[in-house]
Amino acid sequence: MKYKNLYFHTENLISTLVINRPQKLNALNRETLAELHQALEVLEQDAKTNIIILTGSGQKAFVAGADIAEFAHFKVEEGKKLSADGHQQVFDKIAYFSKPIIAAVNGYALGGGLELAMAAHFRIASENARLGLPETSLGLIPGYGGTQRLTQLVGKGRAFEMIMTAGMITADQALDYGLVNHVVPLEELMGKAEEIAHKILKNSTVAIAKAIRAVNACTNESVNGFELEIELFGESFGTADFQEGTSAFLEKRKAKFPGK
Ligand code: COA
Repeated sequence: MKYKNLYFHTENLISTLVINRPQKLNALNRETLAELHQALEVLEQDAKTNIIILTGSGQKAFVAGADIAEFAHFKVEEGKKLSADGHQQVFDKIAYFSKPIIAAVNGYALGGGLELAMAAHFRIASENARLGLPETSLGLIPGYGGTQRLTQLVGKGRAFEMIMTAGMITADQALDYGLVNHVVPLEELMGKAEEIAHKILKNSTVAIAKAIRAVNACTNESVNGFELEIELFGESFGTADFQEGTSAFLEKRKAKFPGK
């Protein structure tokens, strides 16, 4: 498939997925969201992709939000559908993706942009990054999971302040809040993301997929996370990766996981 608003390239099992609408600061219009959904479907099935690094093109923005021009005339039902479709097709898909997704926040991450980064499994940021949920300044609230994911990540008080003020925080503040895990100069951002990705690549993909499910259960009230953990922990003992991981440890060699 040809993509207009994003591109990705894959090397050494790492796929870098770039939102590419720099003239609009990578704002998420409907077409971009549909392409993101499609790209995620492709990468989920791609045997050459074990990890995704998600970033924005250019040096200014990760993603400056949902495309305001596109929804400015929407009525209630259209607004609801925009949010529901986004949750289902992109944001939840990222959060529950079976392979790790790291957001490399390379500039503005605002509104839907911060929500996109927060849906990823974790975030690293460049020093110039500015993060915020400015929706209340537009007469809206965050609609792609922001009210929930920001609160889970930084706590209620900080989430309320960020949402109510509609302000932006710096990368260092985001680090202090635990919203991002690392802050590095912009030119080192992708290197840092790849360095972390390489550490992850040494481990069992099967176990990582189970860990994603178990950790996500922590924020899903319909699932008992402890029970799911017991289930998935037990299942791990039936995998070839478990055989290889434990054998390699006992034989004092590096594991070569079959990914099964
Ligand atoms: N939706 C649609 N277009 C957007 C956008 C968004 N969320 N964010 C930026 N753009 C567009 C601008 O309209 C502008 O387009 P134009 O050149 O055709 O006029 C272009 O991207 C560049 O943005 P500009 O505002 O000129 O850059 P800036 O450096 O002066 O300001 C921001 C950068 C991020 C502070 C500013 O663009 C902004 O506030 N964006 C909206 C952020 C927002 O509220 N997001 C939440 C949406 S729910």
